[in-house]
Amino acid sequence: MTENKNVRIPMVDFKAQYKSIEKEIDAAIKEVLLSGQYILGPAVKEFEEQVTAYCGVKYAIGVASGSDALILSLRAFGIGPGDEVITTPFTFVATAHAIVHCGAKPVFVDIEPDTFNINPALIEPAITKNTKAIIPVHLYGHPANMDPIMEIAKTHNLYVVEDAAQAFGARYNGKQVGSIGHVGCFSFFPTKNLGCYGDGGMVVTDNPDIADKVDILRRQGCREKYHAEMIGYNSRLDTIQAAILKVKLRYVDQWNEKRRYIAKKYNELLSDTNITTPVEAPYAYHVYHQYTIRSSRRDDLKQLLFENDIDTSIYYPKPLHLQDAYKCLENKKGSYPESERAGKEVLSLPISPEISEMDQEYIIQGMGIF
Ligand SMILES: Cc1ncc(COP(=O)(O)O)c(C=O)c1O
Repeated sequence: MTENKNVRIPMVDFKAQYKSIEKEIDAAIKEVLLSGQYILGPAVKEFEEQVTAYCGVKYAIGVASGSDALILSLRAFGIGPGDEVITTPFTFVATAHAIVHCGAKPVFVDIEPDTFNINPALIEPAITKNTKAIIPVHLYGHPANMDPIMEIAKTHNLYVVEDAAQAFGARYNGKQVGSIGHVGCFSFFPTKNLGCYGDGGMVVTDNPDIADKVDILRRQGCREKYHAEMIGYNSRLDTIQAAILKVKLRYVDQWNEKRRYIAKKYNELLSDTNITTPVEAPYAYHVYHQYTIRSSRRDDLKQLLFENDIDTSIYYPKPLHLQDAYKCLENKKGSYPESERAGKEVLSLPISPEISEMDQEYIIQGMGIF
């Protein structure tokens, strides 16, 4: 293979992105430092307002992480012991952990093999008298099929909490993800399409009651200082992170477009191979948080790329029902076959707005005979 690299190709290059907006970021951080308002400072409110406009929702509440966005949303709906919440087993552990943290039970429903998202056709059989909510996850930046999910939720009187941690800017039939369910949850973890330089998250909703509850929950359950209405959390979006996110929000659409361009290029470069490339459903505007391929020889492919100095990741090798933490649910191997098969076959290639076409070609060459 042609030698065009002397260094590893990482999954994401944080420093390259920072360099491209260095002056604006530094100025934004300095402004917060000089303001002396470090907790729920003006940048948090300004960023929340910008996100409401971006998503087309009435309320946005900045919280400490995407995990907390899920927990606080479920708590705001009053979900707790004795309740069941339906979600996918093929997601990051935080989705199901949030349900357990509220004292409720996660009930898994298998995925569609092409989009990797919860299969709406399998949701209804999983509903019981205890079911209170559904958490669809827009995995890898591809929206879950929300219309049938919302229809089922309406019929059975369930809440829909969108886990949009991986999908800021993705659209479902033209609508921003996060704005379709009763609540949407975002993560601003550094790797995310809109990522800060630490932890951060956001809850978006049109429901004033839920917005109010999440706002209180993030402040130890206190509307008024030292008067707790609820058992809350210390879970505010950090002001410095909000200032950083305000800068990055200006770029997120162009970065997502760049990700889509890179994905298209990968699709072309991989078109004559045995590798299954990602789909984009007719209802989807995919933002390629990950560019995830499938191969029955995934482990060999990962090794080959590693030897050629190309980093790859497996999101996720083990579906949640097979994780030790979820043994108590007594789900057996084979319960969710599509999630299990995906866990054995998926491989995410480097994708970020900063990756060059030369890097992409090098990666494809690195796959050799595959
Ligand atoms: C699908 C999904 N849900 C929830 C989370 C949790 O977000 P955070 O890491 O900000 O707590 C993540 C983040 O990795 C995620 O990918």
